[in-house]
Amino acid sequence: MTDHPFEIRLLGKEDRSDFCCGAEPLDRYFKTQVGQDLRRRVSACYVAVEKTTGRVAGYYTLSAADVPVSDLPVDMTRRLPRYPAVPAARIGRLAIDRRFQGRRLGGALVLNAAMRALRSEIAVFALVVDAKDDEAAAFYRHHGFNAFASSPLQLIAPIETFRMLLD
Ligand SMILES: CC(C)(COP(=O)(O)OP(=O)(O)OC[C@H]1O[C@@H](n2cnc3c(N)ncnc32)[C@H](O)[C@@H]1OP(=O)(O)O)[C@@H](O)C(=O)NCCC(=O)NCCS
Repeated sequence: MTDHPFEIRLLGKEDRSDFCCGAEPLDRYFKTQVGQDLRRRVSACYVAVEKTTGRVAGYYTLSAADVPVSDLPVDMTRRLPRYPAVPAARIGRLAIDRRFQGRRLGGALVLNAAMRALRSEIAVFALVVDAKDDEAAAFYRHHGFNAFASSPLQLIAPIETFRMLLD
């Protein structure tokens, strides 16, 4: 078995200056704002680093979230107690550098986020994502997410759906 070429870890002192995913707001956030969000503990950021070069190939942010039950797709609400909201982990941003796109790294980062949520000592019912546009939403639907009832650019997947993939 070959060793995986990327390590996915908490953002540290990696060089972020030439990250380019093709979506300027996601590049700008990663270069200029992410450090502040980490320090303020409003989100965590994990990076996929190419082992041979140390280059950042992709990143995602992860934070705690609360999802109103009224926003859940109907089939997700069937066996839920009558609470107004359920706890979730939110992938706020996800981006792969252009040089590394098309290698299934985006899906690997989604799975990595799910793994962290499953391992958390705080209960997480679902993984939610904010898609920046319809194309990004299609990427998440391809990975098993369903749109919120109130917003097509917010999507959700029960955390249990990832357990089997990760076991
Ligand atoms: C969207 C993005 C994260 C995809 O990451 P990636 O590692 O390049 O993804 P890949 O091209 O290797 O595709 C992985 C799988 O997703 C599918 N996929 C990729 N983009 C898709 C899209 N827009 N719609 C539907 N499926 C898509 C691929 O067909 C592939 O499927 P397979 O594994 O069944 O063969 C990446 O292109 C990116 O960072 N784009 C710019 C920023 C962005 O759009 N971020 C989205 C979150 S806001």
